[in-house]
Formats: sequence, C-alpha cells, structure tokens
Amino acid sequence: MNWLTNFLKSSIGRKLLMALTGFFLCAFLLVHLIGNMQLFKHDHGLAFNTYAVFMTSNPIIKFTSYGLYATILFHAFWGLYLVNTNRKARPVNYAIIDGKANSSWNSRWMGVLGTIILAFIVFHMADFWAEYKFGEVPYVQYSQDLNTLEVTAMPTDAIDSKKIQFTESNVEITIVKNLYQEVAVAFREWWIVLLYVLAMASISFHLVHGFKSAFQTLGFNHKKYNGLINFIGVWVFGIIIPILFAAMPVYFFINQ
Ligand code: HEM
Repeated sequence: MNWLTNFLKSSIGRKLLMALTGFFLCAFLLVHLIGNMQLFKHDHGLAFNTYAVFMTSNPIIKFTSYGLYATILFHAFWGLYLVNTNRKARPVNYAIIDGKANSSWNSRWMGVLGTIILAFIVFHMADFWAEYKFGEVPYVQYSQDLNTLEVTAMPTDAIDSKKIQFTESNVEITIVKNLYQEVAVAFREWWIVLLYVLAMASISFHLVHGFKSAFQTLGFNHKKYNGLINFIGVWVFGIIIPILFAAMPVYFFINQ
C-alpha cells in the first residue's frame, strides 16, 4: 500500500483524484440535466414529480447519491487544498498574468469558480433536496385518461408515502409530492433566477478548463482525439449544458 500513498502524495497522483472525481461529477451533471428537462413538459409536473420519486427511492440511485455527496465535498476541498499548496510553493506572484502561459493563474481561478459552485450547490440542495426530503411539500393528484389530465392540489399529509398510483374506472390516479410546484415558486424570484444564471456561467468556465485538463492529467494527449476532447469540453460542458440548466429558471420566471 506504500506505493499507493506515495503515488497519491505525488503531484500527478493528487491531480488524478481531481480528474477522476471531476469526471464523475460531469456524468452526474448530464444525468441531472436529462432528468430536469422534464420540467419543460406541459404536463403540470407529472413526469418531473414521478421522476423525483424514482430518483429518491431506487436503492441503487440512493446509494450512488451518497457517493455523489462525498465526491462533491472531496473534489471541492481537495481542489482548494491543491490551489493553496501551489500558491505556497510559489510565494512570489507572477508579474504578468497570462492564462495560456501561466497554469497557476488558471488553477487559482478554478479554485474561485469551484468555491462559487460549491456555495451554489449548498443553496440549491437546501432549497429543493432538503425541502423534498425533510420539508413540508404538499401533494398533488393527477387524474389522467386518454384525453384529459386533471390536477388537484392536496395537503402535505395527504398520504404517508412518496407516491400512490392506481386505476379507477379507466382513469389513472397518481398522487405524488409536488416538487414541480416548489421549483416553479422558487423561480418566480428574480434574484434566485439571477443567482442560477451566474452559477451556470461559473460552471461553464470551470468545465471548459477542467474537462480538457482532466484528460491531460490522465495522459490522454493525442493529436487525433484532442480536437474531440476540446469540442466536448467547450460545446457540451461549457455551452450546451450550462445554457439548458440556466434556461430552466428563466423559463419559469417568464411563464409565471
Ligand atoms: C438550474 C436547474 C436545476 C434545477 C431545476 C435543479 C433541480 C433539482 C431538484 C428539484 C433537486 C431535488 C430532487 C432530486 O434529488 O432530484 C435537485 C437535486 C440536486 N441538484 Fe439540482 N437542479 C438544477 C441544477 C443543478 C446543478 C447545475 C447542479 C450542480 C452543479 C445541481 C446539483 C444538485 C445536487 C448535487 C442534488 C442532490 C442530488 C441527489 O440527492 O442525488 N443541480 N436539483
């Protein structure tokens, strides 16, 4: 095990942990985005609320979630530790700040952006995740047949499970916690919308640098693939994903 501790203490070993945890977080972001896209459906939140029940009850996903929380904390605090160690190793500031030539400048910005993203995640989880798990979220009943979807608001103690589903005279009844409504209410506030848009901008800059840099750390540096890695880093993680996430609060704010 000595070789492992030595490796993890080495500069490349430390960065490797950042790269691997970073990839896991990128995968989460993609899954989270795909799930949240159901917020755009015109079904009064039926698909989104049903999806939220699945995500918080499926044992494999629940288990992965604990890994996710640990990974977020590890990536954030290990990252800050590395930025700090780099700074101490080079106490004299660079005279010229040039992002391309000066990787310490980049890593310092990665630390600042990462801290903003961590603060956002804490705020975000307190608002939705903690509210859903521990707060008083009202229920909603969806009564659906071939042609109509009827929505009835229900109190916070309507049922004592996350979801009830049954069919009555060809009408499918689904009773779930109305997380969709919590999201819609939060995004009526202009300052929350602004906060989300700014956080998504931070995620964009963080990932444009981080995605490419993680591949470099893994030694994946080949002329044939560098173009593709750059493209995914910039277009998928730097532009498309943050824009789609930011579109959610903006969409609810405009359509309230
Ligand atoms: C801007 C659009 C977003 C919306 C509407 C949204 C919505 C939600 C909701 C409703 C939950 C609680 C239900 C659930 O666990 O699925 C949640 C959980 C969470 N969100 Fe988001 N989210 C957004 C963006 C993000 C971003 C950009 C990040 C990361 C940087 C993020 C990180 C998380 C985490 C870590 C959880 C807890 C997940 C778990 O328990 O497995 N979210 N989000």
